[in-house]
Amino acid sequence: MIQNIKISTFVIKRSLKMFCILTGVAVITWSFSYTKHSSTLGRRLNGALGRRLSGSHLLSLDIADNHDIPIIFIITPTYYRLVQKAELTRMANTLRLVKQLHWIIVEDFEVINLKTQELFQSTGLSFTYFAQTKRNTTKNHIKGADQRNAALDLIMANHNPSIPAVIYFADDDNTYSLEIFEQMRYTKKLSMWPVGLSGGRTYETPIIKDGKVIKFLAWKSETRKFPIDMAGFALNAKVLWTYNPMRFSTDADSGMLETKLLEKCCAVEEIEPLADNCSKVLVWHTRTQKPQVRIFDNSLEV
Ligand code: UGA
Ligand code: MN
Repeated sequence: MIQNIKISTFVIKRSLKMFCILTGVAVITWSFSYTKHSSTLGRRLNGALGRRLSGSHLLSLDIADNHDIPIIFIITPTYYRLVQKAELTRMANTLRLVKQLHWIIVEDFEVINLKTQELFQSTGLSFTYFAQTKRNTTKNHIKGADQRNAALDLIMANHNPSIPAVIYFADDDNTYSLEIFEQMRYTKKLSMWPVGLSGGRTYETPIIKDGKVIKFLAWKSETRKFPIDMAGFALNAKVLWTYNPMRFSTDADSGMLETKLLEKCCAVEEIEPLADNCSKVLVWHTRTQKPQVRIFDNSLEV
């Protein structure tokens, strides 16, 4: 079986031990008390932190060689908080039901978490997991932009653009139907669909007339050219090369991240409406409540 993409990856049905033997990368572990994202909770990882594993250390992607259907690259920034493992488990359980998919998870920190990596390995999914910190120049309110940009760099460095692929920015706390993945897979340039529970409304959506997007029902639709949440669109991977550099702006105002990216490559007339002409909600911008924990016991990793 020929590998149809070369993107380096870190998993792929191999044990960490095997990885160390093959690459000679010594994985450093140490106990660590981590308070960056939650000063009151703190974090004891019981030796669960690894190196920031960058592309050059990663193994080759093990996606099945199936030229009939495009690859879906899922890009997920993530960061430590008590619900992280639960969110990623739920998301992995969805993604493992989607074929020809490569999941790029980017930890917003200096190093990856080996426990989290074990979780990805146990899913059997084809994935790349690495760490990328937020840059000093990035505005404080911006979440996940440097991490998504690093994932886009990784794709460009490793994927052959002549192989059909799409890119979807899937945050770790949303809810995804399986149907949306099969629909986005064939995105020609930019596809869009409604997002439930988004922008302070029951849903945000493009409005379609004669198969074309004519306007949007969304927060700030007057001032945002593409007023849609990150969960509501997919891009054909080729746009990365055609409109290079396609990267998230790290000084965007609140809520402008998506539109600023899409304005670099696309016109509203080019949007392909999915989800039955945007008549169905197939993804939800869910948010997980912060747990009210009074007793901290680090004997078990939650
Ligand atoms: C909304 C949009 O749905 C996001 O796509 C957008 O990035 C975000 O706003 C924004 O303001 O920039 P929201 O639910 O408010 O999403 O954001 P989160 O779900 O908290 O974060 C988005 C993603 O970034 C998640 O995957 C989260 O794990 C990750 N994140 C968040 C980090 O990597 N680091 C952080 O410090 C915070
Ligand atoms: Mn969210």
